[in-house]
Amino acid sequence: MKESASASDPDAKSAMLEDFHSHLLKSRRIVALLGAGLSASSGLPTFRGAGGLWRTHDATSIATPQAFAADPAFVWQFYSYRRHMALNAKPNAAHYALAQLAKSTTKFLALSQNVDGLSQRAHHPPSKLKLLHGNLFDLKCSDAKCGYREPNNTTDPVVPILAIPQSGQDPTATATATEPNTNPLIRGLDISNPNHTLPSIPTASLPHCPQCRKSLLRPGVVWFGESLPTDVLADVDAFFSADEPIDLMLVVGTSSAVYPAAGYTQVARNKGARVAVVNPDPGSGRALDGKRDWFFCGDAAEILPEMLRPLVGDVRGVIDEKGDAD
Ligand code: APR
Repeated sequence: MKESASASDPDAKSAMLEDFHSHLLKSRRIVALLGAGLSASSGLPTFRGAGGLWRTHDATSIATPQAFAADPAFVWQFYSYRRHMALNAKPNAAHYALAQLAKSTTKFLALSQNVDGLSQRAHHPPSKLKLLHGNLFDLKCSDAKCGYREPNNTTDPVVPILAIPQSGQDPTATATATEPNTNPLIRGLDISNPNHTLPSIPTASLPHCPQCRKSLLRPGVVWFGESLPTDVLADVDAFFSADEPIDLMLVVGTSSAVYPAAGYTQVARNKGARVAVVNPDPGSGRALDGKRDWFFCGDAAEILPEMLRPLVGDVRGVIDEKGDAD
C-alpha cells in the first residue's frame, strides 16, 4: 500500500498525489464506486459506524422488505426523515468534482450506492451515473405485479402525516430530547433521537398507489435481499465488458461491505485498473496493493477535488457560481 495522504510528511503526501495525477492524465477509461461517505461532509449520515443507528435500530435492518411488511409506518418515517435531510443538504465539492469529471472525460462511469440525489443536484450527467441502489425520490408500488413507478417525487413530506414533528408537538419528550435540535438539516424535532416519541401513523394515511389503489407506495431504493435494477446492471456490465482496459478505479466513501457493488473493484482490477481509495478510515486502505494502489486517507470533499484537479480544474469556482440548482 502506498503511504497514506494523511501522513505527517508533506513531501510523501505530495509525491503520492503527483504519482496519482500522472496516472490520471494517462487514464482513458475510469470508473468510480461511490458510497455514503461521499455525502458525509454534506451532513448526511452513513449506514455503518457513527451515524448508522436510527433511534435504536441499525439503519441497515430498516432497509428490508421484511421491515416494511411488519411496520410500514416506521419504515416510511425513516425514509421520510432521510428524504427531508437529503433535500435540505447541498452537494459538496466531491460531488461537483465527479460531475465535472463526467462532463470532461468521455469514458467515465460513476457507480453510486447513494440514494440521496446529491450527485444529480451537482449536475452529474445522468448517462454517466448509475444508481445501483435506486433513489429516495423515486416512488413505486409495493406490489411488484402492479408495477407503478413515480420518478423524482421531491414533495416533503411525501404525505402530510409524515411531516417532521415540530418542537412543542412532543409532550412525551424527555429532558434530553427537548434540548434544541442542532442538526441544520432537520427542520423540527430530530426523530432519529429515540427520546422523541414517534407519532403514531395509521397505515391508511401512508402513501398509496394511485394505479392499483390497493397497495402502499414505497421508496424506490434497493433493500437488502432485493436485486439491483436490471437496466442499471446491464449498462454497468456493458462498460466493464467493452474490449478495452480500465485504467483507474476510484473507490470513494464506501465500506465496500455490500455486494454486488463492492465486487466491481475487483472486476476493474481484472481489466487492469489501478485503484485509488478515498476514506478517512485507515482500515479501508488495508487490502490495497502496495505497488499499484493509492490510499488517500481523509474527507472526500477535501481530497477528491485535489485528486481530480488536473482534469476538472478548481471546482470550488463551479460551486460558488452555480450553487445548487434546486
Ligand atoms: N469522506 C469519505 N469517506 C467517508 C467520510 C468522508 N467524509 N466519512 C465517512 N466515510 C466512509 C466511512 O469510513 C465508511 O467506510 O464512508 C464509508 C461509509 O460506509 P457505509 O456506511 O457502509 O456506506 P456504503 O458503503 O455506502 O454502504 C453501502 O449499504 O446500507 C446499504 O444500501 C445501503 O448503499 C448503502 C450500502
